[in-house]
Amino acid sequence: MAIRKILTVPNPVLKQVSKPVAAVDDDVRALMDDMLETMYAAPGIGLAAIQIGEPLRIIVMDIADKDEEPAPRYFVNPEILDDVEEVRPWEEGCLSVPDYFEEVERPEKVKIRYLNYHGEEVVEWATDLYAVCIQHEMDHLNGVLFIDHLSRLKRQRAIRKVQKAEREKAMENAE
Ligand code: NI
Repeated sequence: MAIRKILTVPNPVLKQVSKPVAAVDDDVRALMDDMLETMYAAPGIGLAAIQIGEPLRIIVMDIADKDEEPAPRYFVNPEILDDVEEVRPWEEGCLSVPDYFEEVERPEKVKIRYLNYHGEEVVEWATDLYAVCIQHEMDHLNGVLFIDHLSRLKRQRAIRKVQKAEREKAMENAE
C-alpha cells in the first residue's frame, strides 16, 4: 500500500468525469488499498479515485466514530437508484478543498447500487452521514465538487483560500 498525493482545487483533473471499472480485480483492489491508506493519513472520511488522479468510478469511505473500530467501505461503479424529496443541510468539507467547510443541501436518503471490495453487488439505502458522504463522493465521479453547489462568490473564496495556503506551504518548504 502507498500514500498517494491528493489533488486540490483548482486542478482541472478534478473536473474530469471518471470511467466505469470493467472488473473488480487485484489491480482495482490495490488501488482501493492505496486510496484507503491515503484517506486515513489525510485524515478524511471519504475519497474518490479522481482525487488521486485516477479517473475511475471508485470510492472509499470510513464513517465510523473515532472511538469505534475502523469500518472501511469500498464502492465500485456506484449508482443512485432512488432518493427522497426531503433535503437536509450538512456542513461538508473535502480533502481536495482543505480547511474549507460549508453547508450543502442534499436529499436525506438515497438508494444506491455498487460493487464492493469483492466485486459483489450491493443495493441499500444510505441515510444520515452515509447519505451525505456517498452523494459528495459520487459527485466527484462526475467532476463535481461540493463547492460547485455554493454561490460563485463562495466557490471563488474557497479556491483562493486553498491556493493561498499552498503558496505559504511552498514558501515555508523553500526556506
Ligand atoms: Ni470531496
